[in-house]
Amino acid sequence: MKFISARERFEGEFTLPGDKSVTHRAVMLNSAAEGEATVTNALIGEDCLSTCACMRALGAKIDLDGTTMRVRGVERFRAGRELDCGNSGTTIRLLTGLVSGKGIDANLFGDESLSSRPMARVARPLGLLGANIQTTDGHAPIFVAPAELQGREIITEVASAQVKSAILLAGLSANGKTTVIEPVKSRDHTERMLAAMGAKIGVDGNRVTVEKSRLSPVDVCVPSDISSAAYFMALGALKGKTLCKNVGINPTRTGILTAFDRLGVKYTLQNRRVSGGEETADILVEKSPMQAIELGGDVVPAMIDELPLLALLCAFAEGESRIYDAKELKVKESDRIKTTAELINALGGECIPTEDGFIVRGKKKLSGGKVNSYLDHRIAMTAAVGLIASEKGGEIADEQCCAISFPDFFDKIEAGTR
Ligand code: S3P
Repeated sequence: MKFISARERFEGEFTLPGDKSVTHRAVMLNSAAEGEATVTNALIGEDCLSTCACMRALGAKIDLDGTTMRVRGVERFRAGRELDCGNSGTTIRLLTGLVSGKGIDANLFGDESLSSRPMARVARPLGLLGANIQTTDGHAPIFVAPAELQGREIITEVASAQVKSAILLAGLSANGKTTVIEPVKSRDHTERMLAAMGAKIGVDGNRVTVEKSRLSPVDVCVPSDISSAAYFMALGALKGKTLCKNVGINPTRTGILTAFDRLGVKYTLQNRRVSGGEETADILVEKSPMQAIELGGDVVPAMIDELPLLALLCAFAEGESRIYDAKELKVKESDRIKTTAELINALGGECIPTEDGFIVRGKKKLSGGKVNSYLDHRIAMTAAVGLIASEKGGEIADEQCCAISFPDFFDKIEAGTR
């Protein structure tokens, strides 16, 4: 249980942890490349540690020194391994694709939350490439057996970077060309990193093609995670002024900035630069009155993990907001349509869950109270923002789950001025 007091003002300069998606890929792909690479500003969160443990089990050597990882990869993975993916959807889905054409068998599994999430969305398309994959009724555990893969064109139903990446990583071992076409472009960190590692890959809008390739190791300097920065950006908008340093602003991730534009949140991007194929900036956000918004369509995948936080911001806006086209929230670490609505309502707001999102009746304030994380890191951190900006603060149960993506979240929250 964590008590969070309401604050008059929240101000400060913050350096946030490394990007979770980029860290997973830097570890996984370098583990599959013969040679050594260094990953700096890596996220040392539980999900990425699950990826490290799996890659070690498959034969890679990974040493940690603070936020620096040294990865020595192997082209041939060890067979017959038990791969514990913990709470991490990215680990289990990407790894299922990566190992499916490696000529080995493997058993991939995870915790209770991960075991309830859909895995047919990767097993089905990988099966179309000829992979030999057995799920447990569409869920983990997933058993992968050796198979010879044949590339083909696959049109995905959902805009999911995890599904797209699983197919592309399988395509690295498939004969011929493997093409993925998405309904809306999802985050493209896999494509960028594969290109930097010398893979034969071509991108044309929502269409990505890979061919059988050997990967060369690549050093990666991981930008700070915009999904983690978003909580501090929101606190700037609600309660003062925050500067988040060196944040990744890959256009497939910046939906939160589009939402800020519509809400009326004042922000500036400073010190823009490119590092390791990904653009970064320092993001300054200032206290702003917010108006209700309607948000759905193509911007949703670019801020899928920030939607609970956006719904919370809408509770502090004036008027009725509607967030739609976000059915995917139901299959995250918790059913985030349900858990976000319950969180906002427990704080004294009015959020009505819908089939594919929320209606939020903004009252420009929340009273505070006792809330639950539902063991979902993004809900725990959204709750903390809501309590700091509320009238009387309150308590979060099971707040430790924020270690999945942001181990020192509450220390950084303490550092914001009172
Ligand atoms: C991720 C993709 C997203 C996101 C998750 C990380 C990734 O999931 O929610 O936190 O690293 O590829 P989907 O691809 O399932 O939308």
